[in-house]
Amino acid sequence: MLTQDELKRKVAEAAAQYALTCLQKDSVLGVGTGSTVDCFIDAIAPFRDQFRAAVSSSERSTQRMRQLGIQVVDLNEVDDMPLYVDGADEIDRGMNMIKGGGGALTREKIVASVAQRFVCIVDESKVVDTLGRFPLPVETIPMARRVVAKRLRELGGDPQLREGFITDNGCEILDVAGLRITSPAELEARINDIPGVVSCGLFAISGADLALVSSQEGVRRMDRDGTHIQDI
Ligand code: 5RP
Repeated sequence: MLTQDELKRKVAEAAAQYALTCLQKDSVLGVGTGSTVDCFIDAIAPFRDQFRAAVSSSERSTQRMRQLGIQVVDLNEVDDMPLYVDGADEIDRGMNMIKGGGGALTREKIVASVAQRFVCIVDESKVVDTLGRFPLPVETIPMARRVVAKRLRELGGDPQLREGFITDNGCEILDVAGLRITSPAELEARINDIPGVVSCGLFAISGADLALVSSQEGVRRMDRDGTHIQDI
């Protein structure tokens, strides 16, 4: 029986092999944040001479990549990115995700928006029928905390300040419990529209293109229609 950490390592190794099929010597790779991504960084590091550099979505990933000899460049230096690899807190079969458990959602969304392809790497505990059991992180400008929380309550959620946590952008996170998210893209747009919200941890307006999902049986691919599940 593989532990959750072993499942994360397996999917990260599969993602590194997949990434190598997308990257050229001059390519820049987009890299997300989290414990699964830490495993991905470890798995791709031995192949760092097969791509030019990475763009990072957090100080945490930047530090880990630099320690392992991966060159990290600023997004402003990059025109083109074939691939972005990141984890998720939940993903549904339509490839909509909740992200931001690690608090890096805004930079993740920015880097992902530049990439041609978003590959989500998860263990199967993260695959859900309906998003919302995991509290939805919303990055918020500190002076707007109270008014944003009020608006989130009007949308049916129960926002809690992530105590003692400041994002890489100097902002706060409200974790919103109690949402059963049946129309993820619509809810993402509504939350994005609240003044004071920096970004919301729903990745639905632009979701993942491919998910690699690890389970006791191995790593499988899940495509956008959610029904096309293959062993890899
Ligand atoms: C960080 C994220 C992570 O991808 C998400 O929280 C999953 O993390 P982990 O791989 O540690 O379970 O969105 O902001």
